[in-house]
Amino acid sequence: MFIAHTIADLRQRLSGAREPAFVPTMGNLHDGHIALLRRARDLGDLSVVSIFVNRLQFAPNEDFDRYPRTWEADCARLRAAGCDVLFAPDERELYPQPQTYTVRPPAELADILEGEFRPGFFTGVCTVVMKLFACVQPAVAVFGKKDYQQLMIIRRMVEQFALPIRIEAGETERDADGLALSSRNGYLSPAQRAEAVQLSAALRRIAQAARAGQADLAGVLAAETAALAARGWAPDYLTVRRRSDLQAAAPGEPAVVLGAARLGETRLIDNLEI
Ligand code: PAF
Repeated sequence: MFIAHTIADLRQRLSGAREPAFVPTMGNLHDGHIALLRRARDLGDLSVVSIFVNRLQFAPNEDFDRYPRTWEADCARLRAAGCDVLFAPDERELYPQPQTYTVRPPAELADILEGEFRPGFFTGVCTVVMKLFACVQPAVAVFGKKDYQQLMIIRRMVEQFALPIRIEAGETERDADGLALSSRNGYLSPAQRAEAVQLSAALRRIAQAARAGQADLAGVLAAETAALAARGWAPDYLTVRRRSDLQAAAPGEPAVVLGAARLGETRLIDNLEI
């Protein structure tokens, strides 16, 4: 695996690659990331993973400083999984000056759901992804469905800017009990880890009710929200939305159930396509 810490080294290594396939990450890699890498290896002639903890997408009260940096373990996992190129710039390399040019996605996509609870989050994500795309110039990039809204917003960004990049979606990887793999699961205490599965269990029940054509879906959502709260969670939202733009779904439209809730200090998100 070739490791590039600078844009110049990365470009030199990638010159001549026909179809670089790219997986952007913030490190602290788990099996979900490795599944995205495997997909990238199938899709391109050269796999590129980036590790960069992007300050721009963290609010001042969020976990930027304590976000786990697990460099040695990440490199070992990527090597074992056959990653060709790891791009790991530091902040001085990727943001040599304050990043005053930004990519602000439209409010109707980016200020709802995650964006409502994490203002500015998707501007930070789109800005760094645009910059990483400019560095890597991939033919294809793979994003996980675990971050469903992020995936949709990146797809739109690529369409709107006519970037010559195919966006592929990777399925969410789960532990045996159903908990979606996430870098933030590592923050959970053993007791919280045992409880954490309740979020995906609630989403599964809501998805079942929606598939069964339950007339009072709002009632089901309210009951599941109250049940999580009663177990000690602080739910931000549980909702059923249209897959294409995450607006309210009309009956029969392809939909997705999405949820976000805080368990102690840890905020978890998950979703299931219906
Ligand atoms: O999903 C993530 O890990 C991040 O939001 C991303 C896409 C790497 C941008 O920092």
